[in-house]
Amino acid sequence: MKLSVIGTGYLGAVHAAAMASLGFDVVGVDVDPGRIDRLRAGSAPFYEPEFDALLAQVMATGHLTWSVDYADLADADVHFLCVGTPQRRGSHAADLRYVWDAVEALIPHLRPDSILAGKSTVPVGTAEAIEGRIAHGWTGDAAHRPLVVWNPEFLREGFAVEDTLRPDRIVVGVPAGPHGERAAEVMRQVYAAQMAEGIPLLVTDRPTAELVKVAANAFLATKISFINAMAEVCEATGADVVTLADAIGYDARIGRKFLGAGVGFGGGCLPKDIRAFSARAGELGVDQALTFLREVDDINSRRRDRAVETARDLVGGSLRGQRVCVLGAAFKPNSDDVRDSPALDIAARIHNEGGQVVVHDPKALANDEARFPSLRYEPELRVSLGGADVVLLLTEWQEYRDLDPVATADLVAAPRLLDGRNVLDSAAWRAAGWSFRGMGREHG
Ligand code: UDX
Repeated sequence: MKLSVIGTGYLGAVHAAAMASLGFDVVGVDVDPGRIDRLRAGSAPFYEPEFDALLAQVMATGHLTWSVDYADLADADVHFLCVGTPQRRGSHAADLRYVWDAVEALIPHLRPDSILAGKSTVPVGTAEAIEGRIAHGWTGDAAHRPLVVWNPEFLREGFAVEDTLRPDRIVVGVPAGPHGERAAEVMRQVYAAQMAEGIPLLVTDRPTAELVKVAANAFLATKISFINAMAEVCEATGADVVTLADAIGYDARIGRKFLGAGVGFGGGCLPKDIRAFSARAGELGVDQALTFLREVDDINSRRRDRAVETARDLVGGSLRGQRVCVLGAAFKPNSDDVRDSPALDIAARIHNEGGQVVVHDPKALANDEARFPSLRYEPELRVSLGGADVVLLLTEWQEYRDLDPVATADLVAAPRLLDGRNVLDSAAWRAAGWSFRGMGREHG
C-alpha cells in the first residue's frame, strides 16, 4: 500500500516517517519548498526528540520521499491530510484555508477507490463538507469515488514519535454503508502493526471522530484550568496547590496527570482548539453546552497576569529598569514551539512594563526571535542569569530543574525567583537565601 501525507509540520512529518518505518511507501508533500528541501536532506525543520534519528533511519530505506508537487502523490491509496488549522484572525473559529487549499490541490490527482484520511483538527462537519466537494468534482464511476474518513491525531509535541507509533487509541470515522466498511478495512490494514500490539482501533461515524479530538483537548484544558482555579483559591487562603493536587490525584477517578498548576497551557493546540470548539458549538446552536470553555480560557489567561504580578511583587512593586531573567520560552519543555507560549507572553508583558528581559531557552530561541524581536535572547544559561534582579522559571526544562540554588545565587544580582511551573524544591531554594514564590503555593 502506498501512502501520502499532506502537510509536513510536527504532525505530518512525524506521521510520514513513522508510517515509512513500518514498511509503507510514503510521500510527504508540502507547499513550502524550504521545508521539503530540509526534509530531503534528512534534517528536521523543527525540534522533536527522536525524530532526527527516525528520519535518518527511514530515509536510508528509500521508503520515504518528499515533494512539493501534488502529482507525486497520485498513486497513493491513502492520503493523510495533516495541514494546520490555526485560529482565524479576529475570531475564535478555526481557519480552514489550508485544509481547503490542500483538498483543491489533491482533487485532480485522486484516483478511484483512494481514501482521504483527515488528521487535522477540524470543526465537526468538515469531513462531510470535503466529501461533498470531492463528489461534486468527480467525473469517474460513482461506485469508486474516493472516500473521506476522519482519523484524528492525539500526539503530544515532545513525544510525537512515540505517540504516533504507539498511540493510546486509534479512531477512524467512516461514512455510512458499504463504502464505510471498505474504508474501515483499508484503515485496519494501515494500522495493522499498532493493532497487533493491542492498541484499540475504534471505528465510528465521522462527526464522532471529529469530536473525539476536540473533546479530548477540551477535557485536558479543563483539567489544567481546574487546578489553576484551585491555585487561585490557595493563594487567597495560604493553602498549597501542589499538595492539594497530590491528594486529589490519588483518587483513581481524578488521577494526578494534567494537574500541574502554574502559568497555564499554551501551544498550537489546546488554546485554539477550545476556542474553535466553542465557536462551532455556537454555529450549531448549542453554545450553552460549552460556555464553561470560556471560563477555562479566562482562568488560563489569569495565570499569566498572576505571574507578572508576582514578578512585580518580588522586585518591590515596579518592573521598570529591573533585569528579569526568563527561563524557558517554548510552550512546554522538549519542544521549540512558541505558539501561544505562556512564557513568551509573560516575558513580553514584562518588557512592556519597562523590565529588561533576558530570555533563555535550550531550543526555542530562533523561533522566539522571529515572534518577539524586541526581547533579548541569550543562549548561555549562566549569562542569562548573570546580574538578574529576579528569575522567572516559566517552562520546566530539565536543566532548570537541575539548577543548584547555592551556585545560582552567586550569579544573580538578587536571589528572587518565581517557579512558574511548581517544579523546584522550595525549601532548598529558600534555605539558599532565595525569596521564592510558586504558583498557588505558600509565600516565601
Ligand atoms: C496537546 C494534547 O495533549 C495532544 O493530545 C493533542 O494532540 C495536541 O494538544 P501538546 O499541545 O503537545 O498536546 O501539549 P501538552 O503536553 O498537552 O501540554 C499543553 C500545555 O499544557 C503546555 O503548555 C503545558 O505546559 C500545559 N500543562 C500541561 C500544564 O500547564 N499543566 C499540566 O499539568 C499539563
